[in-house]
Amino acid sequence: MNTKIFIPRSIQTEGIENHTEKWRSPSNIALVKYWGKVGHQIPANPSISFTLKNSYTETQIEFIKKDVSNGEIEFELFFEGDKNESFSKKVALYFDNIKVYTPYTKEYKMIIHTTNSFPHSSGIASSASGFSALSVCLVAFEKVINSNLVERVANQKASFLARLGSGSACRSIEGPVMIWGEHDNYRLSSNQVAVVPDLELNPIFDNFQDTILLVDKGVKSVSSTIGHGLMKNHPFAEQRFKQANNHIAEMKTVLENGDLKRFGEILESEALTLHAMMMTSTPYYILMKANTVQALEAVKEFRIKTGKNLFFTLDAGANVHLLYPKSEAKEILAFIEKELVAYCENQQYICDELGTGAKKVI
Ligand code: PMV
Repeated sequence: MNTKIFIPRSIQTEGIENHTEKWRSPSNIALVKYWGKVGHQIPANPSISFTLKNSYTETQIEFIKKDVSNGEIEFELFFEGDKNESFSKKVALYFDNIKVYTPYTKEYKMIIHTTNSFPHSSGIASSASGFSALSVCLVAFEKVINSNLVERVANQKASFLARLGSGSACRSIEGPVMIWGEHDNYRLSSNQVAVVPDLELNPIFDNFQDTILLVDKGVKSVSSTIGHGLMKNHPFAEQRFKQANNHIAEMKTVLENGDLKRFGEILESEALTLHAMMMTSTPYYILMKANTVQALEAVKEFRIKTGKNLFFTLDAGANVHLLYPKSEAKEILAFIEKELVAYCENQQYICDELGTGAKKVI
């Protein structure tokens, strides 16, 4: 993909003095994980994810035309109503990274208000939903001032911009399944943007559930930037990238034929491999807590005992994502309430399910 298509050629801002975009964009959970990158946010292996629905960021940008463009990017950022220094620094870096593709950000002052649907310090990464929400707001505004930006390219551009903020954010624009990274078995797959894969999703995955156990609500002990970097000289990197490519190939078959047993095997292997990579890095990081391990063991035991299709996955943290079909939700939620809440901080968990991506609010 030639990313020059994302550089706007014909911007028309005359008469557009004040414009507001407000969008909601969800988080996503990787089935096959992205861990390791090359160059500027290019994944070392392809990843595939489910887009979520209830865990989202809502972002509003008010674009106020400057009298004279001073060539600077100016914005104010409010998180849950208050000015936020640390998010402002990240967003300033993001705007600077993408400015070639969004030259109009210099012509307007941007007032940004952003909130998350999930509790702030829940240990749930907000970078995927956060950067995708910002990106869709920018691209929606660009559609107003650039009549050449067609819908298909607009979605790709939102994914592209989101990727430059945080890799996995590029998978939050659409859904319910997204692939990011080139793979021979997926037509149109790209390292630059995430796309909806060319597969017929088996109905067993309709409204598939993701219950997130909030095992540890603290801040992660290693940032994902450092984590990706640890794969550079990792002794098992080559084998891991091969495995991810094989899993991506097999996941396509499984998502089409609905073989939940194999789905669960790949899902759990991916989660444990991600953590194994961190544990075998130099320096190493152990991101699971004792309660994480207890919860994973309890899930496996429950599955063996009941035959229910309950599987786990993990992000780069201690929280546990539980994936299962909607049709089995009653028994599984009863099990979560009875046994798994004990492993959650303040007994808290989030009920989520598959969604279709970013939505316009106003
Ligand atoms: O988007 P980043 O750079 O925060 O990386 C996220 C990586 C994992 O969440 C651990 C895996 C994934 O593919 O989402």
